Amino acid sequence: MALYSEKVMDHFLHPRNVGVIEDADAVGEVGNAKCGDIMKMYLKIEDDTIRDVKFETFGCGSAIASSSMATEMIKGKPVSEAMKLTNKAVTEALDGLPAHKIHCSVLAEEAIQSALEDYRRRQGQSGEKQ
Ligand code: FES
Repeated sequence: MALYSEKVMDHFLHPRNVGVIEDADAVGEVGNAKCGDIMKMYLKIEDDTIRDVKFETFGCGSAIASSSMATEMIKGKPVSEAMKLTNKAVTEALDGLPAHKIHCSVLAEEAIQSALEDYRRRQGQSGEKQ
């Protein structure tokens, strides 16, 4: 059996939603101290719905595939649903990852959570947004 599923290879070789959102409503950045990989997530949110999402991943192929898949899974979804996204769901959507690469999908979950925390923080700060 191949080490990586076709889906992992597809998202690694053709990652979706790569880039930066200049006027993002939320930005999250996380890193894995062990491997040194870094993931940055940008969200555009309107009416509590994720209208756009982009990511930059300085990391391994599994991290790139995980972030690509994770962005696809939250795009167009309500913030409340995106908050529930787990690395397990991302891994399943990728048809699995090798055991020693599961932590790469955790990075994707954490990057999204970090961006959503930033969104909540910004909402709390600006009185005009409800
Ligand atoms: Fe670090 Fe994959 S090896 S995120």
